[in-house]
Amino acid sequence: MKESALAKAPRAAAPPPHEVQAFGTVAEMPIALAEAARREGADNLNQLLADTITLRDLYRKHHWQASGPTFYMLHLLFDKHHREQDELVDAIAERVMQLGGVSVAMAADVAETTLIPRPPKGRERTAEQVARLLYAHEIVLEEARAMARYAERDGDVGTGDLIVSDVIRTNETQVWFVAEHRTAVPAEVE
Ligand SMILES: [Fe+2]
Repeated sequence: MKESALAKAPRAAAPPPHEVQAFGTVAEMPIALAEAARREGADNLNQLLADTITLRDLYRKHHWQASGPTFYMLHLLFDKHHREQDELVDAIAERVMQLGGVSVAMAADVAETTLIPRPPKGRERTAEQVARLLYAHEIVLEEARAMARYAERDGDVGTGDLIVSDVIRTNETQVWFVAEHRTAVPAEVE
């Protein structure tokens, strides 16, 4: 953590951690699902959550740092997708809790967990922004489909429904809108 360069008023030490449930564990939850199924579901959803938080933040970065002739269109599109991803973040995190788990939440923990490569701090061109978003969407879609199959196998249809109806459908729709902004034009039909 960075030290502030500003003059500091005397301040008490930060509160020490006092956990009532460790990360990675599942508490008892009477939803007629075996503990092993709830634990696996919570673990998988935490991975999906870290990647969805990262994708959401990538949209925010690109919303701010958009450029070029399509600036206005992409500025608005990236903002819309950011809001939709934020709704997914909340739904996935709350599903982890419904299973008795503990949802990953803070940026440092998300950065440690996500499978999406870290983008540069600086501003990129539209083509790279679009390619980066599509790459991240594919990571999310690939893992989401696998997780939906595991949830179905374990009888956890609630998690499966969230992943299919919300995560997969939203991501596929967003890919459609973003992919149309790729600069490489497909060969015309003869
Ligand atoms: Fe904005």
